[in-house]
Amino acid sequence: MYLTIGYHDHEKVNEIARELIPDQATREVIEVLDMGCGTGLVGDQLFKVGGFKNIFGVDASVEMMAKAKAKESYKQTIELWLGKPETFPKNLRNRFRLVVCCAVLVEGHCDKKLFDEMVMAAKGRGTIIIFSTRDQYLRDYGYQKRMDELEANGTWKLAKSLLTHKYDKLGDQNLGRYKKTEVRICAYEIL
Ligand SMILES: C[S@@+](CC[C@H](N)C(=O)[O-])C[C@H]1O[C@@H](n2cnc3c(N)ncnc32)[C@H](O)[C@@H]1O
Repeated sequence: MYLTIGYHDHEKVNEIARELIPDQATREVIEVLDMGCGTGLVGDQLFKVGGFKNIFGVDASVEMMAKAKAKESYKQTIELWLGKPETFPKNLRNRFRLVVCCAVLVEGHCDKKLFDEMVMAAKGRGTIIIFSTRDQYLRDYGYQKRMDELEANGTWKLAKSLLTHKYDKLGDQNLGRYKKTEVRICAYEIL
C-alpha cells in the first residue's frame, strides 16, 4: 500500500548511505542497525541494492519483525522498545558504523530520546546516522532542537539534509488520511 502511493524513505536512505559510505568492501563488513525496522523495507533495500551485508533490526513489534526476518536481509531481528536510553541494551551500544531509522520519529511513536539511542548505538567517530521524519515534526516535537544540541555539543555534524516527498503518487488528491507530504532525511556523522 505505502509503496504504491509513493513511499521512498528506504530508497533515499539507501542512496545517502551509499554516498556517505562509498567503499563497497566497507559496506559489506560494517554492522548496521535499523531502528524501528518494521517489516524490513529499509534493511532489504540496504542489503539488496546498497550492498550492506550485516544488518540488525530492532522493533517493538514482533509481528512486523517476522515479516522482516522472512526477507532474509537481516542477520538478526531483536524485540526492543525504543525511546528509553536508560534501558538500551549493552550489547547494542558502541557497535554500529551505520545507524538508520525511517518513519519512527512520528506522532505517537518515539520522542527525541531516540537520538540519544542512535548515538549510543554508534561505533564512535565517523559513524553515519540517517533518519527520516516529516519536515513539520522537526519543529512540532522538538526534534530539531535536540539535533542542534547534539551538533552544538560536538556529538555529531550534519553530513546531508534532503527534503523530499512521500505519497507523491497521489498528486493533489487525498486517499483517506494519506496525502502528499514533505519528508526530511538527515544524515549525521559522529565526531
Ligand atoms: C511507520 S513504521 C516504519 C517501518 C520501517 N522503518 C519502514 O520505513 O518501513 C514504524 C515502525 O516503528 C516501530 N516503532 C514505533 N515506536 C516504537 C518504539 N517505541 N520502539 C520500537 N519500535 C517502535 C513500529 O512498530 C513500526 O514497525
